[in-house]
Amino acid sequence: MAAAVSRRPLVSGNWKMHHDHIEALHTVRDLGLRIKPGDVSSLDVTVHPPFTDLRTVQSLIDGERLPLGLGAQHCYYEDRGAFTGEVSPQMLARLGVAYVLVGHSERRQIFDMTDEAVALTLRAVLRHEMTPILCVGETEELRDAGATSSHLEAQVRTALTGLAKEQVGAMVLAYEPIWAIGTGRAATVDDAQDACAFIRSVVAEMAGEPAARALRIQYGGSVKGANAGELVDAPDVDGLLVGGASLDAAGFVDIIRAVSDCYRSSAA
Ligand code: PGA
Repeated sequence: MAAAVSRRPLVSGNWKMHHDHIEALHTVRDLGLRIKPGDVSSLDVTVHPPFTDLRTVQSLIDGERLPLGLGAQHCYYEDRGAFTGEVSPQMLARLGVAYVLVGHSERRQIFDMTDEAVALTLRAVLRHEMTPILCVGETEELRDAGATSSHLEAQVRTALTGLAKEQVGAMVLAYEPIWAIGTGRAATVDDAQDACAFIRSVVAEMAGEPAARALRIQYGGSVKGANAGELVDAPDVDGLLVGGASLDAAGFVDIIRAVSDCYRSSAA
């Protein structure tokens, strides 16, 4: 099914608050040894380490020409100023960061990131010519109440309103149901497909069909090697946002290969 669309899948490893810069060095080196050119010929891979690791990981990716995009997990929306403890999008761009997660549910829930802050951060990331990965997803309570679609629609609309069609088409969205994150209980393929197709339909209403067709939508939440292939085989799932299973190079490469195999076999 994946062959019907020309979107190049994106597999992203969100390390969260794991791996100091020494561990990051070992993990990325290990990834570099394990990833073969054929594994990444039909997809993109990013790693999103903690801020303190970024410089180390960037040097390694550049020095050894590893087929990995550098990602961050968050940033503030101002370029500079009296914002103790924050990191600016400008600083990330200067470091060679290409992708930034925006509005991950842990930022929203634990650090009270508002929809407004998500929208501002998205614009700040775009202003510095990095690709935002906008995360959306419902809680278990919302799902049980049958409010998944209305919640996803509200999150997508508040974040994207006012952006140019081209900006929307070039960005990445990640559908991450909160009840699936870190629980071992991934969404079913049908649920992931339905949510991603619905998100795409909202984007089509807002930014037009071409932007909606171009936009990549990842699924995230308890992804592992065993379920990665079937999830990306769904026509509207264009990649995966992986937390726990991205911490170990061997496990992450299993996921990358499962996605690569799926896209290769559907292209054959
Ligand atoms: P998980 O996390 O793969 O550990 O469930 C996904 C995420 O939060 O991005």
